[in-house]
Amino acid sequence: MYTLGIETSCDETSVAVLKNLKVLSNITISSLKAHKKYGGVVPEIANRAHLDNIDKVLSLALEEAKIKIKSIDLIAVTYKPGLIGALLVGLNFAKALSVALKVPFLGVNHLYAHFFSPFLNYKHRLKFPFLGLVVSGGHTSIYQVNKIDSIKTIGTTQDDACGETLDKVAVNYGLGYPGGKIIDQLFEPKYKKEFSFKCGKIGLNLSFSGIKTALVYKKNELEAKNGKLNLDFKKKLLSSFQFSLVEVIVKTIVEASKTKKIKRVSCGGGVIANSFLRYRLKQEQKKESIDFLIPFLEYTQDNGAMVAGLGFYLYNKTRVTSSLNLGAESN
Ligand code: KG4
Ligand code: ZN
Repeated sequence: MYTLGIETSCDETSVAVLKNLKVLSNITISSLKAHKKYGGVVPEIANRAHLDNIDKVLSLALEEAKIKIKSIDLIAVTYKPGLIGALLVGLNFAKALSVALKVPFLGVNHLYAHFFSPFLNYKHRLKFPFLGLVVSGGHTSIYQVNKIDSIKTIGTTQDDACGETLDKVAVNYGLGYPGGKIIDQLFEPKYKKEFSFKCGKIGLNLSFSGIKTALVYKKNELEAKNGKLNLDFKKKLLSSFQFSLVEVIVKTIVEASKTKKIKRVSCGGGVIANSFLRYRLKQEQKKESIDFLIPFLEYTQDNGAMVAGLGFYLYNKTRVTSSLNLGAESN
């Protein structure tokens, strides 16, 4: 079965073609460059870029998959959560294709699609129950997945998302946007305890706004005393910062696994690309005998393949499809 996956919830216009769970193509055009000077995604710029690019991305995806559009059996599309204007571009595009091609379409939750990414290309086998961990630019949440249509949120950030925190601190430190990858590259394990920064945690819920402010204040305080921070000093601060973020995520997901007695955790989202987080999850896998399912790096960021993957699975298990009345939901 061939599934087309369409993702336009934020700044990536992405279309993928899957044959069952095998990814035949996954093409993404990002409007990231246009947002850089603002230090964050500007919704109107993202919406217009989706409109400009979606046709082209579809053609490239079909070309790379070497199939004709008439061979598509199902269209899966992100309908929530995300920027409302951006979601509307993908959703309406999917509806129009569905009508024209006379194939069913299915609206998919972007966050569930993230923790579905480890199953793409059969990297890991899907087996219930499991916990879903999403650590991205917009979300940081833990889910209990009993069945594909029985998913419950069991923990979430109360304010900023983890990736958002990395991005905002990197902008404040003059390192550019998006900051997650930059801070990952600057990270030096020998500096991880140079400073002591703390994230908020109550049970399985997290808070990152306090640590973000602490990083800004610490920089201001040090600069008032010593003048502009050099790169080595920034490395010390940011390594301690990243260490603290990673540790609170690891601690919380291990706690969730123990309290729910579920030893499989499927992970997704842009921050799952982080080298230190990946390393720590592997360590915990050995220590706590928890299976952490990690996606291939190319499927950590927003992409159409994860949307198609979840759509394919949902359709096959439940035969559910969406009606043309389906609306986009920002939250
Ligand atoms: O999943 P994603 O592409 O978009 C959302 O759904 O939000 O995630 C983007 C986030 C950004 O905050 C970015 O800084 C972060 O993922 N990110 C990373 C790394 N690569 C991207 N964070 C930490 N380490 C990385 N290597
Ligand atoms: Zn995402």
